[in-house]
Amino acid sequence: MIHIKSAREIERIRQSAALASQTLDYAQSVTKPGLSTKELDLLIKRFIMDHGAKSATYGYKGFPGYACVSINEEVVHAIPGKRLIKTGDIVKVDVTTDLNGYFGDTCRTFMMEPVSEKARRLVEVTKTSLELAIQTVRNGSRIGDIGAAIQTYVEKNGFSVVRDFVGHGVGVAFHEDPNIPHYGKAGTGLRLKTGMVITIEPMINIGDWRIKVLADGWTAVTQDGSLSAQFEHTILVTATGAEILTKY
Ligand code: MF3
Ligand code: CO
Ligand code: CO
Repeated sequence: MIHIKSAREIERIRQSAALASQTLDYAQSVTKPGLSTKELDLLIKRFIMDHGAKSATYGYKGFPGYACVSINEEVVHAIPGKRLIKTGDIVKVDVTTDLNGYFGDTCRTFMMEPVSEKARRLVEVTKTSLELAIQTVRNGSRIGDIGAAIQTYVEKNGFSVVRDFVGHGVGVAFHEDPNIPHYGKAGTGLRLKTGMVITIEPMINIGDWRIKVLADGWTAVTQDGSLSAQFEHTILVTATGAEILTKY
């Protein structure tokens, strides 16, 4: 069931999403070589709590982190722990806030400069693919338009789109219908409608798109060990386009 949000719900989701984005601004300012992913996680926990919200990831299906902090070949859902951030790493931080029962979900990839040219190009292509996908969104556009925009651009640049995880409806729950794949065919799939709130969150690999989940039951890594990048926005579908609720 797809939930069309009321004006009152949208206002509350907007506030939660803005906090999620501010949390990533803060995370970006403190993510430095030498910091462990658990230390970063605890800083994020404190920032979210100091702003009157809680982390939606903590305890979600048993997930033990306040954010997902995934480095290099880790694609998504890495559990914060002892791994140290190093110069040259690309670090994906994914934050989901729960502000009075309303959710905002956003991820960015931080580059621990200097990074390789290949890594920089991966991060730029991933970011642009999300922007191109958002440009397809408006009342009446189709879910397949989103996936096609991402897949076409990413594959033209020689990278690959992870299939195993998708964007999703969000707002009054963490994960709502519909699923939003990051690959597909333009002009196919469900039509988006004004008042829907969704995430788009492409995960892009330098090598093959296949992933595997580690023995911890959460951490997804590329099967071939190649680098992976991700950006995610929470967006509101409007009559003429999309409003990015997790804008930088
Ligand atoms: N934030 C992720 C998403 O974009 C989901 C993380 S679930 C967790 O949908 F349990 F791993 F935190
Ligand atoms: Co999401
Ligand atoms: Co997320």
